[in-house]
Amino acid sequence: MIEDMILDSHESGVSNDKLIKKITNKTLNSNNISFDLIRNHGREENNVKNELQWGRAILATQEQLNQYLHTYGLMIKSQWINVLSSFELEDRNVQIIDYACGQGLACSLFFDKFLQQEELEVRQITLIEPSAIALRRAYAIVKCYNENHNINCINLKLDDLKDNYLRANGNSTYIHLFSNILDINTFDIFKLFRKIIGKRGKHVFLAVSHDRDFDGGAPRLEELHSAFVYEKNAHFFKKVSSEIRRFNCENGMPAICLNIQVEI
Ligand SMILES: C[S@@+](CC[C@H](N)C(=O)[O-])C[C@H]1O[C@@H](n2cnc3c(N)ncnc32)[C@H](O)[C@@H]1O
Repeated sequence: MIEDMILDSHESGVSNDKLIKKITNKTLNSNNISFDLIRNHGREENNVKNELQWGRAILATQEQLNQYLHTYGLMIKSQWINVLSSFELEDRNVQIIDYACGQGLACSLFFDKFLQQEELEVRQITLIEPSAIALRRAYAIVKCYNENHNINCINLKLDDLKDNYLRANGNSTYIHLFSNILDINTFDIFKLFRKIIGKRGKHVFLAVSHDRDFDGGAPRLEELHSAFVYEKNAHFFKKVSSEIRRFNCENGMPAICLNIQVEI
């Protein structure tokens, strides 16, 4: 269990991730943590930009994690501010699943918007990520927002998820976050969504990715949107709303996002 591994490394002090150290020594804590402070940690180049493979690599070193923050952090912030600006949280009682969470940046931006002002009750957070070093940092960040957070870490690729990875937890709404992953063609989107829609309840899918039409890219998000609105699939759902939208980030980078809400 990676969760045990993370706790062990905290307790024995073996984690040498300097961002995690800032959390364990309370420099970063639940009163001050924000995406901006996290990104600040990666403010300097680490000269390993080519190792990121345009953001597709499964990261293996602290330098790569910091370089990722430096290179893509502002774009990701701009993407999620845009996605969340038109999103209303109807149910305050939620369970969050962050797919290919990396170091947990989508969760951080979600919490920056909803955790402080709203009475958000987060029943459980599931973090899925094949990079152990990124997952360990994501866990520390999510725990830093609220040490009572109940976190389930899954150190796997998406194709390897078991059918039952979604846990029932009361009547909460499942919020599924896909930050810069649906465009990456290293996994089968429909295999994953068949596992998700096997679970009864309210599901909200929020996704954002770079808008491009090569190496996977936007066509994968478009296909998913089409599957939800395709009338022959209507019998799977009690209610569906599905929006697909394009916009430009502050740095001019084109983005595509999905907001799909279904009751199953
Ligand atoms: C562009 S990064 C996005 C990370 C994070 N969601 C964010 O927005 O910062 C892509 C992530 O996908 C992960 N990844 C790559 N292939 C994967 C796969 N087949 N299954 C699950 N995750 C994968 C990488 O380890 C990396 O963390």
